Amino acid sequence: MAMESRGDFNVNRVLTARLTAEDVTQAADLLRAGRLVAFGTETVYGLGADACNEAAVAALYAAKGRPAFNPLICHFPDAATAFRTVTPTPLAARLAARFWPGPLTLVLQRVENCPVSQLAGAGLPTLAVRVPAQPVALALLRAFGGPVAAPSANRSGRISPSSAAHVLAELDGRIAAVLDSGACAVGLESTILDLSGPRPVLLRPGGVPVEALEAEIGPIQRAGAQPGLPIAPGMLRSHYAPGLPVRLNAVSVERDEALLAFGPPLPGAALSFQLSARRNLDEAGARLFEALHVLDAGAARHGCIRIAAMPIPAQGLGLAINDRLTRAAAPRTLPPEQNAG
Ligand code: TXA
Ligand code: MG
Repeated sequence: MAMESRGDFNVNRVLTARLTAEDVTQAADLLRAGRLVAFGTETVYGLGADACNEAAVAALYAAKGRPAFNPLICHFPDAATAFRTVTPTPLAARLAARFWPGPLTLVLQRVENCPVSQLAGAGLPTLAVRVPAQPVALALLRAFGGPVAAPSANRSGRISPSSAAHVLAELDGRIAAVLDSGACAVGLESTILDLSGPRPVLLRPGGVPVEALEAEIGPIQRAGAQPGLPIAPGMLRSHYAPGLPVRLNAVSVERDEALLAFGPPLPGAALSFQLSARRNLDEAGARLFEALHVLDAGAARHGCIRIAAMPIPAQGLGLAINDRLTRAAAPRTLPPEQNAG
């Protein structure tokens, strides 16, 4: 475990890839003390806070610069503990049995006397719950013993972190610790399914392909597909924004563009990042946020002012990859504090 002093605001503990039980205990103690601890999950790194501690949750919104109308996902070590805070519908019980632990978040009605702070749920009658699969995350959740609110551990509106280094680049000095469990295996955020209404609605494509969910429970509506269907408060258009603008479905590269390649790369790019040479969507998903970070960081040196992204098929994880790229490509018309997530 490495420790570094970061001014008088905080001490930043980087709990390393050779994590011990003691590191996990320390991280749980920090959460109990109302501090913020980032931890790796199989999707992206989350910024954790005690979901029942209003002050800790308020500090979490402040550290991210996230608007308080955008609710947080609560994390649990198993379905039984998750279902103490929300009422499982029959479909929720089925999906939990099939996909938890894993990259699936379910939005359900809060139980009466739900202990999770109103602030964490942005005052909504529903709560988003998830059981991650990453073993270190599960160990932390077990050691802590209560719901952990954890949005992606990035500043609001920025690229999600898929490594501890990404977390520190954005949040160093604002958080108490990072539990470094290495790179995230899935690399894309969880799929969010709203089961709180009469029909299931996909709020965010993510680590579990919607086709796999539909194979289990039948057709799922897409958020916003028709008027009246719910959308997630955080799914604003400009999101996951790298510093550079993104051009989608590129079939050629301009001289001032960095290339995001998928399969045989287009010729002529001064800077490029290969998502998957063999056009494998799982591999591309796991590398997407690393790619955006790398291209962003190297662009100026190579005279690049834009990212050109090659087309990616919209099936399986490709749906989530295209969703993130479309948001990254959206015009930045909103002030940063309204870009949530
Ligand atoms: O993979 C993930 O889901 C990661 C890891 C850390 O678990 N977390 C994550 O959290 O992506 P965040 O806060 O970046 O995105 C959560 C999304 C937001 O768009 C938010 O609006 C939506 O979930 N959400 C949370 N609670 C909700 C609710 N009750 N109803 C509808 N949407 C909700
Ligand atoms: Mg986010």
